[in-house]
Amino acid sequence: MPLLLGVNLDHVATLRQARYARMSASPHAEPSPLEAGHDALAGGADSLTVHVRSDRRHMQQADAMRIRAEVPLPFNFEMGVTEEMVGMALKLKPDFVCLVPESRLEITTEGGLDVLAGFDKIRMVVARLQDAGIKVSLFVDPDSKQIEAAGKTCADMLELHTGGFANAVGDAVETELARLIAAAKEGHASALQVNAGHGINYSNITRLLTIPHLAELNIGHTIVSRAMRVGMSVAVREMKDLMACYSA
Ligand code: PXP
Repeated sequence: MPLLLGVNLDHVATLRQARYARMSASPHAEPSPLEAGHDALAGGADSLTVHVRSDRRHMQQADAMRIRAEVPLPFNFEMGVTEEMVGMALKLKPDFVCLVPESRLEITTEGGLDVLAGFDKIRMVVARLQDAGIKVSLFVDPDSKQIEAAGKTCADMLELHTGGFANAVGDAVETELARLIAAAKEGHASALQVNAGHGINYSNITRLLTIPHLAELNIGHTIVSRAMRVGMSVAVREMKDLMACYSA
C-alpha cells in the first residue's frame, strides 16, 4: 500500500480569520478553505482534514460542511472529545474522525490525547462514532501506555504525534525517532492502523519515512506555507513525491 497524504486545511482558515473573522461567510472572505481543498485534490491529496475547534478560531462548521459535501475526497474530521463535537460529527458524517485534546491556550494541538485518564469517555465516544459508520483515530504521543490504552478503546487507528520529533534538536532527534518507531510497531501489533502527524515538513519527512507500518501522514502547516510560493496543488504534489519512496 502506498503511503497516503491527508492535507490539513486549518491554516488556510487561520489566514482568512485574521482578516474576516466576523464575516467568514462573505463571498469576499479569502483565502477559501474550500478552494484549497479542490486544489489539494488536484495535487494528489488522498484525504482532507478539518478541525473545528470549540473556540472556532480557524475552521467554522460551515467550512467543514461545504468541504465535506463538495470535495470528492475522504474527509477526516479532527475534534475534541466533547458532546458538541460528537453532535457535529454525526451531522457531518466524515469518513474518519481523529480525536484530539483541546486547550484554549494552545496555538495548535500541542500534545497527544491522554487516553489513560479519559478512557471511559473516549471509549464511549469511539463506540458512538463507529455505530454511525465513522472510523476513529486517536492522536497519541509515542508512549507505550497510551498506545496500549488506545487499543483497548477499540479505535480503528492511531495518529502518532510527531511534534516531539519535529521540535527536537541534536541527539534528541534520534531519541524521538526511536520512540516513534517503537510506537508504530506497538500500534501495528495491536491491529491499529498507524498514521502520523504534526510538525512534519519538507525536510524532516525524510527521517520520518524510516518509521515502519505507516498508512497515512497528516500534514498542514508546511503545505499551506509552501502553497504561498508555488500554489496549493504543486505544494501537495511535491510532498507526495517525497513520500513516494516509502516502504512499510
Ligand atoms: N494531526 C493532528 C492531530 C493535528 O492536530 C495537526 C495540527 O492541527 C496536524 C496533524 C497537522 O500538523 P501541522 O499543521 O503541523 O502539519
